[in-house]
Amino acid sequence: MVRLSGLSILWIVSAVAAQLASTGLSVTLNNVPYFISPYSAGKVSVDTRSLSKVATVFGFKPVTVVPDAKESDLPKLLTSWTSVDDVFQPAFAGAILLGSARGTSNPKKPIISGVSSVVVKLSNKKIPAGPYFLELSTGSLYPVHRLYQDFAGAFLQALLEKPDGKFETLSAQIAGSDSLTIGVPSRLYYTKTAAKPLAGVRLGVKDIYRVAGVKGSNGNRAWYNLYPAANVTGTAIQRLIDAGAVVVGLQKTSQFANGESATADWVDYHEPFNPRGDGYQDTSSSSSGAGASVASYEWLDIAIGSDTGGSVRGPAGTQGLFGNRPSHGLVSLDNVMPLSPTLDTPGFLIRDPYIWDAANAALYGKNYKSLVKAKPKYPNKILTVGFPTNTSASAAAPLFIDFANALAKFVSGSVTALNLENEWKATGPGGPALAQLLNQTYATIITKEQTELVREPFFRDYAAAHDGRTPFVNPVPKSRWAYGDNRTDADLQQEYKNKQTFMTWWNTKVLPPVTDASQCSSGLLLYPGSSGSQNPRNTYRTLPGVPLGFGTSRISVFTEVPDSVYPLGQVASLSTITNHVEYFPVAVDIMAAKGCDGLLVKLAQDLVQAGILTVPKAGGTVTGGDILMK
Ligand SMILES: *[C@@H]1O[C@H](CO)[C@@H](O)[C@H](O)[C@H]1NC(C)=O
Ligand SMILES: *[C@@H]1O[C@H](CO)[C@@H](O)[C@H](O)[C@H]1NC(C)=O
Ligand SMILES: *[C@@H]1O[C@H](CO)[C@@H](O)[C@H](O)[C@H]1NC(C)=O
Ligand SMILES: *[C@@H]1O[C@H](CO)[C@@H](O)[C@H](O)[C@H]1NC(C)=O
Repeated sequence: MVRLSGLSILWIVSAVAAQLASTGLSVTLNNVPYFISPYSAGKVSVDTRSLSKVATVFGFKPVTVVPDAKESDLPKLLTSWTSVDDVFQPAFAGAILLGSARGTSNPKKPIISGVSSVVVKLSNKKIPAGPYFLELSTGSLYPVHRLYQDFAGAFLQALLEKPDGKFETLSAQIAGSDSLTIGVPSRLYYTKTAAKPLAGVRLGVKDIYRVAGVKGSNGNRAWYNLYPAANVTGTAIQRLIDAGAVVVGLQKTSQFANGESATADWVDYHEPFNPRGDGYQDTSSSSSGAGASVASYEWLDIAIGSDTGGSVRGPAGTQGLFGNRPSHGLVSLDNVMPLSPTLDTPGFLIRDPYIWDAANAALYGKNYKSLVKAKPKYPNKILTVGFPTNTSASAAAPLFIDFANALAKFVSGSVTALNLENEWKATGPGGPALAQLLNQTYATIITKEQTELVREPFFRDYAAAHDGRTPFVNPVPKSRWAYGDNRTDADLQQEYKNKQTFMTWWNTKVLPPVTDASQCSSGLLLYPGSSGSQNPRNTYRTLPGVPLGFGTSRISVFTEVPDSVYPLGQVASLSTITNHVEYFPVAVDIMAAKGCDGLLVKLAQDLVQAGILTVPKAGGTVTGGDILMK
């Protein structure tokens, strides 16, 4: 007689119950790389014998689902899909599962060019239209993602949303690619509604926003390895998901969202590649992956970055995109790594100003007043700071000057050059010049806040896990944090006061709001963003320093007003990399009074309509074209 102990029974049971799980499957269809999601969209019953002529791989067949159309409408419908969706292609039409079909038929005339289709009845009309892979053995339909190469090195992880709303790393790799692979689902699965204005909008997320199920890095390897996957998605990203956005990956940030340059810094992870011009210009930081990706990839609609001292505006300008630093405090930044809660803002980098408004509305909720359906009364006071005074001052000067004049004409107003220090002397509360008053304000606030909120717990946790060791930190955050250690709490309190003094003056004397909601702001203030100058990434720089000093780009940081980037075009110059003439983006920044974020987006739309601005394209220039080294 054989007696089994409890232990050996357990062993037998666990051996039988080995867990085998699919993480999805990578395939190619007519040489286009696709990913078959491991999460079924639903089941159908199909007589698989009728599909015998349709190609099969691992028991999956490409099919097209059409719940609600007449068979006679299919040619037009499917042809339109090839232009609105980059995932669908005619090869999916070899088998069409049609809600209105009576039985199985083999139309003699091709429904779509060059493909002979079999049309079968769709037994489950709840499945959204679009391309799928049908698993023959189960009748399950699996959603299709098209796979793209992240040749700009903009992403750190490709993501796939699971049915429970958490995320996992997308398990796919395009054969013969030296870069990460990103997957985007068919746009046909999503329908825009009032509740889901961002349905199907593909979103890249800066790797400081925590996403449930996924480990984050903040641009630091030690951090990535130390902490477990996030268990919740923060408010900001969740709002975008709830509005229908599809998160396709986490994107690179300079470390701990501090500003870094390529050759000197970016030790832990490599800086992404700016696709414009010679392909070797610095992307600017810290939302570097956001800017590089939206400028490189037509398949990506929008990226969310963050701006504390210019981290959205820099990458947007240097890559010729729209971008916004919003009014401060519009949405909770829970589950986001802080640089400085006093100054941090979440903003977008984007090509299309219409998606921009919908994304702002979703992200900022009731704190955002969209003016898209209104007829705004634009302020007629146009102020410029640091603008060139004549068109021969630089290659970009005519673009800035022409834009200011065109804007003034558009709003029936006039342009006034503002000298900040003179204005401060004339109408300010007295005391030192701005350059002195605000010299250490930014550096003190960000370093004191980040050392307390990020470095201290991180170093403590790392030491506890690694026998008292200190984690590696890139030179820039390290030197900034050291500066913070030299500043006292009294210094910090003084800098908060300096910020407040400046903010009060600005928001009452220079750019106050007005009560008429259709105007919102008393004026619009312009300053040069990107001037199309070259800043190649292969430059050896001096030792990392501290962001001291005051400049125009700090105004919105301290005054909490919205500050948006508008691409104006590009200038031609001889690249030091290619020894060939290349095109480098030029962009202007426009500020309005606090809370007038909606006005700035509507202005972008109206200026596009009026032909004063052009929607930028993804590619080697802001008007499109090949990217070197893609
Ligand atoms: C998520 O993780 C945090 C930190 O580890 C923990 O404090 C919190 O209770 C967790 N929340 C949930 C919903 O599991
Ligand atoms: C135009 O600006 C440049 C640079 O600021 C200056 O050198 C030049 O004298 C100016 N020309 C005129 C006509 O004002
Ligand atoms: C700003 O602060 C630095 C460091 O204390 C100092 O060296 C510099 O002179 C200051 N600049 C101004 C304009 O006050
Ligand atoms: C901090 O202060 C010490 C002593 O004054 C000085 O030697 C050091 O250079 C300072 N470090 C930084 C990062 O400012």
